Amino acid sequence: MIDAVRDDADLYALVEEFFASTFSTDNPLITEAVRRMLAAGGKRLRPRVTLLATQACGGDATAHLYLAAYMELIHVATLIHDDVVDNAQTRRGVNATAVDFGNRVSVLAGDYLFAWIFKNVTASYPAPVPHILSATLADICDGEVLQLRALGDLDLPIEQYVEIVEKKTASLFGASAECGAIMGGGTSAEVAALRGFGREYGIAFQMRDDLLDMTADERTLGKPVGNDLRERKMTIPLIHALNRGEAAFRGRIGRFYDGRSDGPAAEILASIGDLGGFDATRASIATYVQRAKAALAPMAESHAKNELQSLADALLVE
Ligand code: IPE
Ligand code: IPE
Ligand code: MG
Ligand code: MG
Repeated sequence: MIDAVRDDADLYALVEEFFASTFSTDNPLITEAVRRMLAAGGKRLRPRVTLLATQACGGDATAHLYLAAYMELIHVATLIHDDVVDNAQTRRGVNATAVDFGNRVSVLAGDYLFAWIFKNVTASYPAPVPHILSATLADICDGEVLQLRALGDLDLPIEQYVEIVEKKTASLFGASAECGAIMGGGTSAEVAALRGFGREYGIAFQMRDDLLDMTADERTLGKPVGNDLRERKMTIPLIHALNRGEAAFRGRIGRFYDGRSDGPAAEILASIGDLGGFDATRASIATYVQRAKAALAPMAESHAKNELQSLADALLVE
C-alpha cells in the first residue's frame, strides 16, 4: 500500500486514499452512500486510535492501514443506522444518509457494510481480531437498544447511563485500540492497557458528545444540536441536573418528555446549565480522561503514547 511513510500525516493520508479510491462494494448505490459520508469528513478518531496503538506497541502502522480503515467503516455503518434510530437529518455537515437515500436503503446499506467489513476482516486477520469486532458490534446494538428502552426514564441511575455508553460508544474505541495493539505485536499487558485506554476514552468521548448536543453550534458540529432532548434521551448533563433534586425542574422535564408541553427547549437547556449540569458533565469527562491516561501507565514512553494522551486531553477543551 505504501513505499515510504515519512510521518503520521502521510499515514493518515493513506487511509484517506483507501476511502477515496480503493473502497468499493458490489453494490453501486451502497458504495455511493458510504463514499459520500466518508467524503463529508469526520474526525477519523477510531482509525487514529488503531494506528497509534500499533505504534505504541512498537509495530509498523503502515502494515495495518486496512484494519484502521475498517474501524472507521464500522463507525460509519453505525452512524447510518444511528441517524435512522435518532431521526437525525444531518451528519458531518451534509444530509444524513436516510434523508438522501431513505430509511429502507439506509438500514440495508448499514447491514451490507457490516457484512462487507466482516467478510474482509475474517479473511485477513487472525484470531482474536474477528471475534473482538463481532463482540463489539453486538455491544453497540445492545447499547443502542438499552438507550431506547431508557428514553424518558428520569430515574435512570448514572451507573446505567455509563453502561449504555460503554456499550454503544466505548466498546468500539476499546476494540480499535485492542486490535491495533494485537496487530502491533503488543504483549498481553500492553494489549490490555490500550484496550483500557480506549474504553475509558470512549466513555469521556460520549459524555462530551452529550454536552456538545446541548452547547455547540450546529454548523460547527455538523449534526443537529438539541436532538437528544427532542428524542427524550437521558444524557449525562440532564442526569446531573436531575440529581440536584429540584422538584420544579423534574416536573418540567417530565412534562416535556411526556409531550404535555413543548415549552421552549432553549429554556430547558438553560435550566440544565443553571443547575450545574454542564459543569458536572465537564467534571465527569475529566474523571474518565484521567482514567484513560492512567490506563496507559504500563506503556513505555513513545510518540504514539503521547499522541494518545493528547487525544484524551483534547476532550477537556470545548
Ligand atoms: C459520533 O462520533 C458518534 C458518537 C459516538 C458520539 P464522532 O464524533 O467520532 O463522529 P465523526 O466520525 O467525527 O463524524
Ligand atoms: C452514539 O450516540 C451512537 C453510536 C454508537 C453510533 P449519539 O446518538 O449521541 O451519536 P450522535 O450524536 O448521533 O453522533
Ligand atoms: Mg445519534
Ligand atoms: Mg450525540
